[in-house]
Amino acid sequence: MTRFSIAVVVGSLRRDSWNRKLASAITELAPPEFSFSQVEIGDLPLYNQDDDNHISEPVARLKREIHAAQGLLFVTAEYNRSVPGVLKNAIDHASRPYGANAWAGKPAGILGVSIGAIGTAVAQQHLRTVLAYLDVPTLGQPEAYLQAKDGLFDAGGGLGTSSKPFLQGWMDRFVPWVRMHA
Ligand SMILES: Cc1cc2nc3c(=O)[nH]c(=O)nc-3n(C[C@H](O)[C@H](O)[C@H](O)COP(=O)(O)O)c2cc1C
Repeated sequence: MTRFSIAVVVGSLRRDSWNRKLASAITELAPPEFSFSQVEIGDLPLYNQDDDNHISEPVARLKREIHAAQGLLFVTAEYNRSVPGVLKNAIDHASRPYGANAWAGKPAGILGVSIGAIGTAVAQQHLRTVLAYLDVPTLGQPEAYLQAKDGLFDAGGGLGTSSKPFLQGWMDRFVPWVRMHA
């Protein structure tokens, strides 16, 4: 059985992040040959092009983890109608130096949850623009714009009954998307 490992990038460093919870909970909907691991982006330095030829260990680790994955899952918050800076910083790091873009060709899905009614829609559109430039084939449909509210998760931190059917539908499109491109 071919196995697929998915590098999960969470666009929030907040301890009780809704997006981190979602990134953990959604893995229960995937088939057994899919495994998910969240990559650390909170310890990356601010990207500085001067460092391209002597990258720090956290950056090297990020690039190794992206290279080793067969697919990507971005689960992001929306900050001021865009992608949080910590996520953009991580994307920039792994895209460089020029000619060594670790993201290229990795099939990706995007999810996001926010307290706002449009559920990270604007941040996700910005992220799609960035990923297109980085040659990342990104699942188009279904879009998943989730609002943080009661019922999203159950008491144990799993997906709630109100969100599970929709997210299962999302996963059922993400899985063949990864298989097709991996
Ligand atoms: C700097 C900042 C900017 C924010 N901007 C938005 C925004 O543009 N749209 C939105 O829906 N929520 C916005 N929020 C609220 C977030 O949806 C909320 O903080 C959410 O909990 C962040 O996701 P997390 O729980 O995964 O950290 C903002 C929050 C912060 C701290």
